[in-house]
Amino acid sequence: MALRLPHRRATPVPPPPRPGAAVEIARMRRRHVRAVVAIEQGIFPRPWTPGLYLSELAQPETRAYFVALVDGVVVGYTGCMIIAGEGHITTVGVAPAWQHRGIGTRLLHAVATEARARGARALTLEVRMSNVSAQSLYRAFGFAPAGVRKNYYAEVNEDGLVMWAHDVDTPAYASRIDALLAHVEEREAARG
Ligand SMILES: CC(C)(COP(=O)(O)OP(=O)(O)OC[C@H]1O[C@@H](n2cnc3c(N)ncnc32)[C@H](O)[C@@H]1OP(=O)(O)O)[C@@H](O)C(=O)NCCC(=O)NCCS
Repeated sequence: MALRLPHRRATPVPPPPRPGAAVEIARMRRRHVRAVVAIEQGIFPRPWTPGLYLSELAQPETRAYFVALVDGVVVGYTGCMIIAGEGHITTVGVAPAWQHRGIGTRLLHAVATEARARGARALTLEVRMSNVSAQSLYRAFGFAPAGVRKNYYAEVNEDGLVMWAHDVDTPAYASRIDALLAHVEEREAARG
Protein backbone atom coordinates (compact mmCIF):
# COMPACT_ATOMS: atom_id res chain seq x y z
CA MET A 1 0.00 0.00 0.00
CA ALA A 2 1.33 3.45 -0.90
CA LEU A 3 2.22 5.65 2.07
CA ARG A 4 0.17 8.83 1.97
CA LEU A 5 0.46 12.16 3.70
CA PRO A 6 -2.44 13.18 5.92
CA HIS A 7 -4.74 15.57 4.08
CA ARG A 8 -3.80 19.18 4.72
CA ARG A 9 -4.63 22.24 2.63
CA ALA A 10 -1.42 24.29 2.88
CA THR A 11 2.12 23.65 4.06
CA PRO A 12 2.78 25.70 7.21
CA VAL A 13 5.66 28.14 6.69
CA PRO A 14 8.16 28.64 9.54
CA PRO A 15 7.32 31.85 11.42
CA PRO A 16 9.97 34.60 11.40
CA PRO A 17 12.30 34.43 14.42
CA ARG A 18 11.23 36.60 17.33
CA PRO A 19 12.68 37.23 20.79
CA GLY A 20 11.62 34.72 23.40
CA ALA A 21 10.10 32.23 20.94
CA ALA A 22 9.77 28.86 22.67
CA VAL A 23 11.27 25.94 20.74
CA GLU A 24 9.75 22.53 21.43
CA ILE A 25 11.36 19.25 20.37
CA ALA A 26 8.80 16.56 19.53
CA ARG A 27 8.70 13.25 17.71
CA MET A 28 8.14 13.64 14.00
CA ARG A 29 4.66 12.53 12.92
CA ARG A 30 3.24 12.01 9.45
CA ARG A 31 1.47 15.35 9.73
CA HIS A 32 4.89 17.10 9.97
CA VAL A 33 6.33 15.58 6.79
CA ARG A 34 5.03 18.18 4.36
CA ALA A 35 6.64 21.01 6.33
CA VAL A 36 9.87 19.03 6.81
CA VAL A 37 10.17 18.43 3.07
CA ALA A 38 9.44 22.12 2.34
CA ILE A 39 12.41 23.10 4.57
CA GLU A 40 14.53 20.30 3.11
CA GLN A 41 13.91 21.56 -0.43
CA GLY A 42 15.33 24.93 0.55
CA ILE A 43 18.54 23.64 2.14
CA PHE A 44 19.57 20.40 0.40
CA PRO A 45 20.47 19.95 -3.28
CA ARG A 46 18.98 16.42 -3.26
CA PRO A 47 16.01 16.67 -0.87
CA TRP A 48 14.30 13.59 0.46
CA THR A 49 10.78 13.00 -0.85
CA PRO A 50 7.71 12.81 1.40
CA GLY A 51 7.55 9.08 0.58
CA LEU A 52 11.05 8.54 1.94
CA TYR A 53 10.16 10.25 5.23
CA LEU A 54 6.92 8.29 5.49
CA SER A 55 8.81 5.07 4.91
CA GLU A 56 11.27 6.00 7.68
CA LEU A 57 8.40 6.83 10.06
CA ALA A 58 6.86 3.45 9.26
CA GLN A 59 9.89 1.68 10.82
CA PRO A 60 9.78 2.94 14.42
CA GLU A 61 11.65 -0.07 15.80
CA THR A 62 14.88 1.04 14.08
CA ARG A 63 14.24 4.72 13.37
CA ALA A 64 13.79 7.84 15.52
CA TYR A 65 12.83 11.20 13.98
CA PHE A 66 12.30 14.54 15.71
CA VAL A 67 11.07 18.00 14.79
CA ALA A 68 11.71 21.40 16.35
CA LEU A 69 8.46 23.36 16.61
CA VAL A 70 7.75 27.05 17.18
CA ASP A 71 4.07 27.79 17.72
CA GLY A 72 3.42 24.25 16.49
CA VAL A 73 5.15 24.93 13.15
CA VAL A 74 8.18 22.90 12.06
CA VAL A 75 11.44 24.91 11.97
CA GLY A 76 13.90 21.99 12.04
CA TYR A 77 14.18 18.22 12.03
CA THR A 78 16.54 15.28 12.45
CA GLY A 79 16.50 11.54 12.54
CA CYS A 80 18.52 8.41 12.91
CA MET A 81 18.59 4.71 12.23
CA ILE A 82 19.63 2.60 15.22
CA ILE A 83 20.87 -0.89 14.46
CA ALA A 84 23.26 -3.20 16.34
CA GLY A 85 24.47 -0.63 18.82
CA GLU A 86 25.14 2.02 16.17
CA GLY A 87 23.10 5.13 15.51
CA HIS A 88 23.36 6.52 11.98
CA ILE A 89 22.16 10.13 11.87
CA THR A 90 20.44 10.32 8.50
CA THR A 91 19.48 13.99 8.34
CA VAL A 92 19.61 17.31 10.22
CA GLY A 93 18.09 20.50 8.90
CA VAL A 94 16.98 23.86 10.24
CA ALA A 95 14.99 26.49 8.30
CA PRO A 96 17.46 29.19 7.18
CA ALA A 97 15.87 32.00 9.22
CA TRP A 98 16.14 29.84 12.36
CA GLN A 99 19.75 28.69 11.95
CA HIS A 100 22.44 29.72 14.47
CA ARG A 101 19.91 29.83 17.33
CA GLY A 102 20.83 26.51 18.89
CA ILE A 103 18.09 24.49 17.22
CA GLY A 104 20.59 22.14 15.55
CA THR A 105 22.13 21.57 18.99
CA ARG A 106 18.72 20.83 20.54
CA LEU A 107 17.88 18.39 17.73
CA LEU A 108 21.21 16.58 17.92
CA HIS A 109 20.84 16.34 21.69
CA ALA A 110 17.40 14.74 21.25
CA VAL A 111 18.49 12.24 18.64
CA ALA A 112 21.72 11.30 20.45
CA THR A 113 19.80 10.85 23.72
CA GLU A 114 17.25 8.62 21.99
CA ALA A 115 20.00 6.55 20.34
CA ARG A 116 21.72 6.10 23.73
CA ALA A 117 18.42 5.07 25.32
CA ARG A 118 18.06 2.43 22.61
CA GLY A 119 21.51 0.98 23.24
CA ALA A 120 23.72 2.86 20.78
CA ARG A 121 27.39 2.80 21.75
CA ALA A 122 28.51 4.83 18.72
CA LEU A 123 27.01 7.40 16.37
CA THR A 124 27.93 8.15 12.78
CA LEU A 125 26.97 10.54 9.99
CA GLU A 126 28.16 11.90 6.65
CA VAL A 127 28.62 15.58 5.93
CA ARG A 128 29.75 17.55 2.90
CA MET A 129 33.48 18.24 3.05
CA SER A 130 32.87 22.00 2.65
CA ASN A 131 30.16 22.19 5.35
CA VAL A 132 32.53 23.34 8.09
CA SER A 133 29.78 24.95 10.14
CA ALA A 134 27.92 21.63 10.50
CA GLN A 135 31.22 19.84 11.13
CA SER A 136 32.06 22.10 14.07
CA LEU A 137 28.63 21.41 15.52
CA TYR A 138 29.23 17.66 15.13
CA ARG A 139 32.70 17.93 16.68
CA ALA A 140 31.10 19.56 19.72
CA PHE A 141 28.96 16.39 19.95
CA GLY A 142 32.12 14.26 19.95
CA PHE A 143 32.17 13.33 16.26
CA ALA A 144 35.61 12.97 14.68
CA PRO A 145 36.50 12.45 11.00
CA ALA A 146 36.97 8.77 10.16
CA GLY A 147 37.08 8.60 6.38
CA VAL A 148 36.03 10.07 3.08
CA ARG A 149 33.36 8.80 0.68
CA LYS A 150 34.46 9.94 -2.79
CA ASN A 151 31.80 11.94 -4.63
CA TYR A 152 29.17 10.89 -2.05
CA TYR A 153 27.28 14.09 -2.88
CA ALA A 154 27.44 13.56 -6.65
CA GLU A 155 24.81 16.24 -7.37
CA VAL A 156 27.22 18.90 -6.09
CA ASN A 157 30.34 16.95 -7.08
CA GLU A 158 31.59 16.80 -3.51
CA ASP A 159 33.12 14.17 -1.23
CA GLY A 160 31.41 13.10 1.97
CA LEU A 161 33.26 13.21 5.28
CA VAL A 162 32.34 10.26 7.49
CA MET A 163 32.34 11.15 11.18
CA TRP A 164 31.98 8.90 14.23
CA ALA A 165 31.35 9.54 17.91
CA HIS A 166 32.37 6.61 20.12
CA ASP A 167 31.53 5.64 23.71
CA VAL A 168 28.25 7.52 23.58
CA ASP A 169 26.81 5.03 26.09
CA THR A 170 29.00 6.49 28.88
CA PRO A 171 27.90 8.94 31.58
CA ALA A 172 30.71 11.23 30.39
CA TYR A 173 29.09 11.52 26.96
CA ALA A 174 25.69 12.25 28.51
CA SER A 175 27.29 15.03 30.59
CA ARG A 176 29.03 16.41 27.53
CA ILE A 177 25.88 16.77 25.45
CA ASP A 178 23.78 17.93 28.41
CA ALA A 179 26.31 20.75 28.87
CA LEU A 180 25.93 21.73 25.19
CA LEU A 181 22.16 21.84 25.57
CA ALA A 182 22.37 23.86 28.79
CA HIS A 183 24.73 26.33 27.13
CA VAL A 184 22.34 26.87 24.21
CA GLU A 185 19.33 27.22 26.52
CA GLU A 186 21.15 29.83 28.62
CA ARG A 187 22.36 31.70 25.53
CA GLU A 188 18.91 31.80 23.94
CA ALA A 189 17.25 32.83 27.23
CA ALA A 190 19.76 35.70 27.49
CA ARG A 191 18.92 36.74 23.94
CA GLY A 192 15.42 37.42 25.29
C1 LIG B 1 23.80 22.40 10.14
C2 LIG B 1 22.50 22.92 10.76
C3 LIG B 1 21.53 21.76 10.94
C4 LIG B 1 22.85 23.52 12.15
O1 LIG B 1 21.64 24.01 12.72
P1 LIG B 1 21.65 25.30 13.66
O2 LIG B 1 20.32 25.41 14.26
O3 LIG B 1 22.18 26.47 12.89
O4 LIG B 1 22.69 24.82 14.75
P2 LIG B 1 23.19 25.59 16.07
O5 LIG B 1 22.65 26.96 16.12
O6 LIG B 1 22.94 24.70 17.21
O7 LIG B 1 24.76 25.61 15.83
C5 LIG B 1 25.27 26.01 14.57
C6 LIG B 1 26.45 26.88 14.76
O8 LIG B 1 27.11 26.81 15.96
C7 LIG B 1 28.33 26.01 15.83
N1 LIG B 1 28.34 25.32 17.08
C8 LIG B 1 27.26 25.09 17.85
N2 LIG B 1 27.67 24.59 19.04
C9 LIG B 1 29.00 24.53 18.97
C10 LIG B 1 29.98 24.15 19.91
N3 LIG B 1 29.66 23.76 21.14
N4 LIG B 1 31.28 24.20 19.54
C11 LIG B 1 31.61 24.62 18.30
N5 LIG B 1 30.72 25.03 17.39
C12 LIG B 1 29.44 24.98 17.73
C13 LIG B 1 28.14 25.37 14.54
O9 LIG B 1 29.24 24.93 13.90
C14 LIG B 1 27.52 26.55 13.83
O10 LIG B 1 28.44 27.63 13.80
P3 LIG B 1 28.06 29.04 13.15
O11 LIG B 1 26.69 29.46 13.68
O12 LIG B 1 29.13 29.92 13.67
O13 LIG B 1 28.08 28.84 11.69
C15 LIG B 1 21.87 24.05 9.92
O14 LIG B 1 22.81 25.07 9.74
C16 LIG B 1 21.35 23.59 8.56
O15 LIG B 1 20.24 23.12 8.43
N6 LIG B 1 22.19 23.72 7.54
C17 LIG B 1 21.79 23.36 6.19
C18 LIG B 1 21.64 21.87 6.06
C19 LIG B 1 22.86 21.14 6.52
O16 LIG B 1 23.99 21.52 6.19
N7 LIG B 1 22.64 20.06 7.28
C20 LIG B 1 23.70 19.20 7.74
C21 LIG B 1 23.96 18.18 6.70
S1 LIG B 1 25.03 16.90 7.31
